[in-house]
Amino acid sequence: MSSLFGPSRLQDKVVLITGASGGIGAATAILFARAGANVILTARRASALSTIQSRCVEAHNSSGLECGGLFQSLTLDVSKSNDISHLASRLPSWAKDKVDILVNNAGLVLGVEKVGEIEEEEVNVMIDTNVKGLIGMTQLFINQFKQRGSGHIIQIGSVAGVEAYPGGSIYCATKYAVRAFTSALRKEVVDTKIRITEIQPGLVASEGFSLTRFRGDQQKADQVYSGLQPLSSEDVAEEIVWAANRPAHVQIAESLIFPTNQAGPRDVARPLLDQSK
Ligand SMILES: NC(=O)c1ccc[n+]([C@@H]2O[C@H](COP(=O)([O-])OP(=O)(O)OC[C@H]3O[C@@H](n4cnc5c(N)ncnc54)[C@H](OP(=O)(O)O)[C@@H]3O)[C@@H](O)[C@H]2O)c1
Repeated sequence: MSSLFGPSRLQDKVVLITGASGGIGAATAILFARAGANVILTARRASALSTIQSRCVEAHNSSGLECGGLFQSLTLDVSKSNDISHLASRLPSWAKDKVDILVNNAGLVLGVEKVGEIEEEEVNVMIDTNVKGLIGMTQLFINQFKQRGSGHIIQIGSVAGVEAYPGGSIYCATKYAVRAFTSALRKEVVDTKIRITEIQPGLVASEGFSLTRFRGDQQKADQVYSGLQPLSSEDVAEEIVWAANRPAHVQIAESLIFPTNQAGPRDVARPLLDQSK
C-alpha cells in the first residue's frame, strides 16, 4: 500500500460496505482491495456492483499483495429492514461472523425544498435510508463485535450533521441523527476494543449525490461544484481507509473533511468564477 498510509494493517481483514456501487463507497471498496482486505460490496444496483467488484479484483492484482482478494457483491437496500435482517445468512463463509470493519456509507439527499414544501415520501426515503438503514446495519454487527471483543464501525456522516443549512432541513436532520447515534455508541463501547468513527465530508463531486438531489438534472447538479475544486470520492475513501488503518489503540472519532475553498456547508469560495468576472 502507498506510503501515505504506512504499512497496511488491513491485510486479510473483512470489510463490508453499504452503497458500494458508486461514489464514495465504490472508491472505498477499491482502496480496501488495494490494501489487501477482503470486501463485501452491497447496494441496490447489481450490475453497478459487479463493475466495481471487477475494479476491486484489478486493484488487488496490481497491489502485488498475496493476502486478501476475496470479493462478494450482494444486493441490499438499507431502507428495507427485511433486507438487513436477511443479510447475515447471505454472507459467504469467509465473511460469516468475520466482518472486521463495517462502513455505513449508503445515503442520499432529495431536493432543496424549504420546510412546508417537502414531499412526505421524500422525507421517509431520506430518514429510512440515512438513519434507519444505518441504525439497522449497526445493530446487526455490533453484537458480533461485542462477542468477539473487536471491530470497527465507520459511519459516513456529513458537514450537514455538524451545521445545518436552508433547503437541507431533512438531510441535515438525518446527518445530525447519525452523529448523535454514533456518539452515544462510542460511549457505550468505550470499555472495549471496538472503534467507532464518523467521517464528515463537505462537497464531494461523487457519481450520484448531486444528481440524485436534483432528480437527474445534470446542469443543476454540476452547478454545485462550479468554480471550485470539490473533493473527489477517492479523497474521502483515503480518509476512510486511513482511519481503518490506524493501530488498534487509535480511534479516529470524527473527521470533518472539506475542499480547500469550503469552510462550512454554504461557506464556499469560488475563486475560478471570481477570476472570470
Ligand atoms: N457527495 C457529497 O457531497 C457528500 C457530502 C457529505 C456526505 N456524503 C455522504 O456520503 C455517502 C455516499 O454518498 P456519495 O456522495 O458517494 O453518493 P452517490 O455517488 O450517489 O452514491 C450513493 C451510494 O449509496 C447507494 N444507496 C443509495 N440508497 C441506497 C439504499 N437504500 N440502500 C443501499 N444503498 C443505497 C447507491 O447505490 P444504489 O443506487 O446501487 O443502491 C450508491 O452506491 C452518503 O451517506 C452521503 O450522505 C456525501
